[in-house]
Amino acid sequence: MFFKVLVFVSLVLCLDAYKVLVLAPTPFRSLGVLGEAIVRHLVEAKHEVTFVTAFPKENTKNYRQIDVSDNALALSGNDDGASFTLAWVMENPQLMNDIRYLQDVAYIIANETFQNKHFLKLLQDPKEEFDVVISELYETELYAALAALYKCPLVWSYSMGAHWMALRLVAEATNPAFAADYLSPEVPPFDFYGRLNKLWLQIQWSYIKWADTLPKEKATYERLLKPIFENRGLSLPSYDDVMYNASLILANDYKGNGLMPSTPQNFQFIGGYHVETPPKPLPENIQEILDTAKHGFIYFSMGSIWQSKDIPVNIVNGLLKVFGELKETVIWKYEDVLPNLPKNVHILKWAPQPSILAHPKCLFFITHGGHLSSIETVHFGVPTIGIPIFFDQFININKAVANGYATKVDLTYNLHNDLKIAINNMLANSTFKERAKELSQLYHDRVVPPGKELVHWVEHVVRTRGAPHLRSPALMLPWYQKMYLDVAAIIISVVATAFILFIRLFSRNSRKVNMEKKHN
Ligand SMILES: *[C@@H]1O[C@H](CO)[C@@H](O)[C@H](O)[C@H]1NC(C)=O
Repeated sequence: MFFKVLVFVSLVLCLDAYKVLVLAPTPFRSLGVLGEAIVRHLVEAKHEVTFVTAFPKENTKNYRQIDVSDNALALSGNDDGASFTLAWVMENPQLMNDIRYLQDVAYIIANETFQNKHFLKLLQDPKEEFDVVISELYETELYAALAALYKCPLVWSYSMGAHWMALRLVAEATNPAFAADYLSPEVPPFDFYGRLNKLWLQIQWSYIKWADTLPKEKATYERLLKPIFENRGLSLPSYDDVMYNASLILANDYKGNGLMPSTPQNFQFIGGYHVETPPKPLPENIQEILDTAKHGFIYFSMGSIWQSKDIPVNIVNGLLKVFGELKETVIWKYEDVLPNLPKNVHILKWAPQPSILAHPKCLFFITHGGHLSSIETVHFGVPTIGIPIFFDQFININKAVANGYATKVDLTYNLHNDLKIAINNMLANSTFKERAKELSQLYHDRVVPPGKELVHWVEHVVRTRGAPHLRSPALMLPWYQKMYLDVAAIIISVVATAFILFIRLFSRNSRKVNMEKKHN
């Protein structure tokens, strides 16, 4: 009897364990962090995970790892990639957020991923089966092919919020007149120029995608995936069918962030799932510095891509002078040695950020405003001074400013002086802290924590075989029907015909009248 129960229980457990393929092949640290978090939650929920990652780990006994770390090499050959430092950005601010460059990078990485020998080994094994594919969505849809290959549902993991570029894949692009865009800094409502600019960005992005990137992606799809499909005895479906077939998008944003356009049923906000709760304990030496900070501490980090050591030396000296004049302790993530440190300034080569932000003595955070850092500050209710550099950081910080818990400082050669003003403002003004705490409460006020929600939605998609009930009917008709252009065409032709008939009739009648007049 006991044995029977045991068999039954293990059967039930087995039935509930799904085979999940998680893809995070882009060698950007923040995307890697999100991928690892997805794996962590799925493994905790006892699912069987295969993780394709650009940042492989040493020991992974709970899941299978496919190492695509070679993808980083594909980018290092790129000149822009090699010189991507803070000093370079300060000289070339106008070159940032180049749409073509963003799409190119994503395409190059996808192209590389599908030729990676470890990944190919998985794809070429006809015995591999998956219940669901979860792939990061970063400027390319090529990974959607995997759901077609394994005949299972596709879930996109999107690193940002309700952006039209993602929404177009499961419903339709949002109206640019009122939706913020990671490619530009303005927060809605937009003025005339702002609206024009958002429309122009959407047109530009779509044009470059359609004219340049999509043909390249289709060629790669035909060239690299056809043999893989044939190997499994399948014929290659059309790229359009694959590209718009996702069951769900899991977006890394939270509703409290505000200023969002409305979203379809299969677009879920689970922002914050990458933050481990409770945060890991701090290393002893850091714990001691933070605990003994009599006047509290300020945490300063420019993230993982942008290293503080690349800040020009006279600005570093200026910053040290500004920090040295404070009575508060300063924790600076700086990746090199710094001589002549003031007593209250501490350098960390590596910083366990969430655990530092979680410390009760943390006064505020000086940050580049990356999306993960922005979510962490709200998670722990810490106000911020933002120094945006690239991509979505401008809009993230402007949103934080609009939400009342942040101020912004520009990255210029005057950084130390501007930062001094901002620091004094932050220290003198308690409203930033109060607002950060308020927003943090709002962020945590959810039905379940975001990691639980993530697991629920993935399981829901598998249980319902792709959640067809959540699909938007907007995908069922072509764009001209959505815009009623066919109706407009009918109306215009009816009116035009009537008009022409009327003119003809009128001119014939008037000719008749004229003739009659002549005869008389
Ligand atoms: C579309 O998604 C469904 C599940 O949602 C899957 O079974 C099917 O194979 C997918 N088709 C293509 C062409 O991607």
